[in-house]
Amino acid sequence: MKLVLATSNKGKVREIKALMQGYEVVPYSELMKEFEIIEDADTFKENALIKARAVFKALNEDDVVVIADDSGISVDVLDGAPGIFSARYGGEGASDKDNLYKLIGEIKKKGVESSPAHYTAAIAIVTPTSQYTVHGWMYGDVITQVRGDGGFGYDPMFIPLGYDKTLGELDDEIKKKLSHRSKALSLAKEILQTL
Ligand code: IMP
Repeated sequence: MKLVLATSNKGKVREIKALMQGYEVVPYSELMKEFEIIEDADTFKENALIKARAVFKALNEDDVVVIADDSGISVDVLDGAPGIFSARYGGEGASDKDNLYKLIGEIKKKGVESSPAHYTAAIAIVTPTSQYTVHGWMYGDVITQVRGDGGFGYDPMFIPLGYDKTLGELDDEIKKKLSHRSKALSLAKEILQTL
């Protein structure tokens, strides 16, 4: 089954391809010119649906399944920020590094060096006849240090529960087992099998 991904985020594409073996996974940017999708809902779920629906509509094909991932990190000491604003925490057009250092700065302003945090991933599946959403979460701590260069985004400052290294330092295989994205995608696979 061909799955079109409504994202061109390289980190997400790499992880989703690795987690969806057995499926042909194609980022939509390989099929058409990338276009801006305004994610103006206030939940991961609704933003994932906005992306999947927008790409589904733009593809204008009868026989296609579109998958979107909307995800982010929520930090307890910041009352859940950046949450749905994770991709643009450092401002419009911010890079992953800008966002990471912005988050470290905000945590330091609270006078602490670490805080419990969690990642959320909402996956939307849009087909010609149906729409679904599933979620996955990964819990742990964020620290005000950047350690390792594995993963992407906030991974070099995130230590999963039960570990003493960041996702930047841990092997990709560990993130693959634990991550919010892998948990949501394993539910998505159950749905895809019914299509
Ligand atoms: P989205 O593309 O609007 O869903 O934004 C997701 C943002 O959340 C990314 O740009 C990252 O900053 C962050 N994020 C989501 N998942 C992960 C992850 O697995 N590791 C690190 N950062 C993540």
